[in-house]
Amino acid sequence: MHLTPEQQAMLDGEMGFATRKAMEIITTLGKIYAAERLIPVSSVQIAGVSYANLGKAGLDFLDTMANGGGKARVLATLNPAGMDIENWQALGISREFAQKQLMVLNAFQRMGVVTTATCTPYLAGNLPRFGEHIAWAESSAVCFANSVIGARTNREGGPSALASALTGFTAAYGMHLENNRRPTIQVRIETPLEGTHAFGALGKAIGEQFEKDAQRHIPYITGIANASIEELKALSASIATYGGTAMFHIADITPESNRFPIPAEGFAIQAKDLQNAIEAMNDATKDEIDFISLGCPHLTIKEVAQIASMLEGKKVNKEFWITTSRPVKKIADTMGYTQVIEKAGAKFATDTCCVVAPIKGRFRAIATDSAKACYYAYAKNEFHTRLLPFEQVIEFAVE
Ligand code: F3S
Repeated sequence: MHLTPEQQAMLDGEMGFATRKAMEIITTLGKIYAAERLIPVSSVQIAGVSYANLGKAGLDFLDTMANGGGKARVLATLNPAGMDIENWQALGISREFAQKQLMVLNAFQRMGVVTTATCTPYLAGNLPRFGEHIAWAESSAVCFANSVIGARTNREGGPSALASALTGFTAAYGMHLENNRRPTIQVRIETPLEGTHAFGALGKAIGEQFEKDAQRHIPYITGIANASIEELKALSASIATYGGTAMFHIADITPESNRFPIPAEGFAIQAKDLQNAIEAMNDATKDEIDFISLGCPHLTIKEVAQIASMLEGKKVNKEFWITTSRPVKKIADTMGYTQVIEKAGAKFATDTCCVVAPIKGRFRAIATDSAKACYYAYAKNEFHTRLLPFEQVIEFAVE
């Protein structure tokens, strides 16, 4: 693999311990994937932030890198943490966990990583442009960046994303190479689609087909006339979760959809496929649902505004988490949405989410509009799940 003098100097340790370690990670990955060179990245999103996932070993690694002089060379932001950084007590997080989580955030901050703690960095100041090479972890954001924005990123892991932040480079393989962005299969949507829950169910229906074929396909999706940012983020999260997909094209909607030939081979998704996908996420009875969460991926301000308008003057009768980024929460504060939502008894779980927060054992069943949240609620926390349209989730909370 060709290295420039600057990259070689990093690898030789001339720019400090942490930069050397980071360059070792990047070049090792490059060798594994037969990259010919490294390319500069302009933006990084780092996952592996919740102390519930990192544990002591992860925190020690971050401390070592921070103490070893690690400094972000490009804009680098963070995935959600295991708690609301300002309001963790209200979410029932223990003091011991909070202390460890704050140490994790402190280590990132010392390395110059912007501690946004959101899985929608593109809504919180980290928005790449079309064609830009980036190194993002967080599968939903990766899929959104490749498919909706047209930026170029592989599905990085936490350490490799941090390594790109500390060096400013990634290895040129996978989704960074034009030819690897070609659609490989056509998916014809033959049923109307509306709402985040429907787009999430679509991601499950398509993704599971890929898992069945043991193929990491790039679908070329036809039959969708329009899709909002909220629906596209729901699809990105779900197709990445259920199918390991890093990118999709939607005819005439996503930026590269007209760039490549349309694959002839494919399959159709009909109303019954969507219905089956939804039913598979609905094993919770209404009576056992004791937890409600909206915001996987983190909510846009438009979604927060809708929640506020539907909760105005009402009272929620269950634990209800609204998960979003700190910048979106600040806008909600300014607009008075926070006051309305909190007066109704719902809680902002800013900087975190119902998947990365340590809540296993606290609830029996969750209602949400997110297919990705359903997957992890069951797989990680052993909750029963109910997938509902966004508005029906809110209506259910005040029933
Ligand atoms: Fe984001 Fe948590 Fe969902 S990180 S995509 S809200 S699982």
